[in-house]
Amino acid sequence: MDIYSIRTQIELEVNQLNSREALEAFRNKYLARKGIISQLTGSIPSLAVEERAAFGKEVNLLKSQILAIIAEKEKTLAAEKPSTPAPGGGIDIGMPGIAQEIGRLHPITQTIDEITSIFVQMGFSVVEGPEIETEYNNFTGLNIPLDHPSRDAFDTFYIKSPAKNRLLLRSHTSPVQIRVMKSRRPPLAIIVPGRVYRPDAVDASHLFMFHQIEGFMVDEGIRFSDLKGVLEVFAKAVFGKEIKMRFRPHFFPFTEPSAEVDISCIICQGRQLSDVLTSQGKRCSVCGGKGWLEILGSGMIHPNVFKHVGYDPTKYTGFAFGMGIERIAMLKYGISDIRLFFENDLRFLRQF
Ligand code: PHE
Repeated sequence: MDIYSIRTQIELEVNQLNSREALEAFRNKYLARKGIISQLTGSIPSLAVEERAAFGKEVNLLKSQILAIIAEKEKTLAAEKPSTPAPGGGIDIGMPGIAQEIGRLHPITQTIDEITSIFVQMGFSVVEGPEIETEYNNFTGLNIPLDHPSRDAFDTFYIKSPAKNRLLLRSHTSPVQIRVMKSRRPPLAIIVPGRVYRPDAVDASHLFMFHQIEGFMVDEGIRFSDLKGVLEVFAKAVFGKEIKMRFRPHFFPFTEPSAEVDISCIICQGRQLSDVLTSQGKRCSVCGGKGWLEILGSGMIHPNVFKHVGYDPTKYTGFAFGMGIERIAMLKYGISDIRLFFENDLRFLRQF
């Protein structure tokens, strides 16, 4: 086996090295333990002494040429596309897919939907109003006097606007009463969910923006007992049949008489009055030991409001109520900090 004919043979073989298998066979043929190179090296002792060094040099040169050929071929093969495409046209159909996360409704939206549907079942219609309101609809039309503290620039977000038609971010959903009554005639049974704004300092129970649901009913002969009946159906549907309600006299400029409505504490069931302590010697933290939780404001629509919208107050009567959605959701789900609703922390939101 002379080196010259081996070289000629290699030159012929190089052109056939078009696959990994062929390249592997080539490598084995020349470089394996019993391959041609090691056979050549093994033959050195049988040579005449003066020939050995030159022959050894030749063999080493041949070996490095073979290694260079292999390295070169490996590069070209790696750059080439696989000759037969994988099943699925090169897409690994066995690879796990990327799961689409399914979203859900925000707990405040869920609470609005739940409360709204309770009233819709009682025959109320849903109406929405704008968050930018006129000062008239937010205050004057609702019989809120000019010197009422809630009109103060620090208690309301005013928008730069002409003094004649001052605009603000509504501080409650009650202005929608004015809008609806001005454009429709009784009988009316309306529910109004929406956002409201107050420049309150943010803490565990206050935000500068929150949600309310307003409700009102107007017709001939609507009585306070109708308000009580409607709110009782609502409170029992949201908080359970065992819940008790109490109407506490209050004042709102746009209702007369007015009442704040409390429900019996959903944690201590109202059993725990102020002088009764829990087993740990603490007052119930939800109601503060009072046994009652305030949930909304309400009353019979003030005759002055009817006059503002052009209804005859001797013919029509009506009730109205307004509640804070965040407060209802916090009580229902036992949430102690209102800020959690708006931090967009998925660990919180995923629980609903
Ligand atoms: N608008 C009142 C508030 O935001 C709530 C209310 C509505 C009270 C309707 C009575 C009647 O506090």
